[in-house]
Amino acid sequence: MTAKKRVGVLISGRGSNLQALIDAAKAPDYPAEIVLVISNVPGAQGLARAEAAGIPTCVINHKDFASREDFDQALDAKLTAAGIELLCNAGFMRLLTEGFVTRWQDRHLNIHPSLLPAFKGLHTHARVLDEGAKITGCTVHFVRTAMDDGPIIAQAAVAVHPGDTEESLAARVLQAEHLLYPHALRLVASGVVRVEGDHVVGMTRQSGQSALFSPPLHGTFD
Ligand code: GRF
Repeated sequence: MTAKKRVGVLISGRGSNLQALIDAAKAPDYPAEIVLVISNVPGAQGLARAEAAGIPTCVINHKDFASREDFDQALDAKLTAAGIELLCNAGFMRLLTEGFVTRWQDRHLNIHPSLLPAFKGLHTHARVLDEGAKITGCTVHFVRTAMDDGPIIAQAAVAVHPGDTEESLAARVLQAEHLLYPHALRLVASGVVRVEGDHVVGMTRQSGQSALFSPPLHGTFD
């Protein structure tokens, strides 16, 4: 097997997607290893997850910097010093400057809890419920300067259930996120997919499922 790609993960909080990546990367045939976790928030729960897995961590607190540029430069210096080849945002709640985004272009992934380009931004699940959408999901994409924008690597569709709350919907989508992110990182790290123009191409396998119906097509409706 060729050398595993050295991955850095950026977090701001809970780190459950980070955990999914850590767990996936334990498989001997996984093409990436998580070698550094950086949080912009001191004490973020994800830092403890990384430490428990023996992964080096670092806090770069955005509040310690006079400008976004200075913060991003510190981030970039740390990532470069650690020999990071691929970068994953996992609940990282900072917008990055154009210079940083350009430098990491097509090597920088993000996960967002909706079927992009629908429902970009914050409070995704509340807005999905407000709209009465019947299907939502999650997306892993390459980062561009605009928020939640960029070539889409992989998506999972998730049904909205009658009576869902923001919390119940978030929990169902999160389960899909934990499967999707390791899957997408595998595709990128193994070199199966690549960016061409605004699209990610190279995947030849198709999904076995043709459609998700919500409400379901069959069954009783009482
Ligand atoms: C996830 O829903 C992710 O899609 C979004 O922020 C949340 C982070 O959760 N960007 P966690 O920190 O990975 O548990």
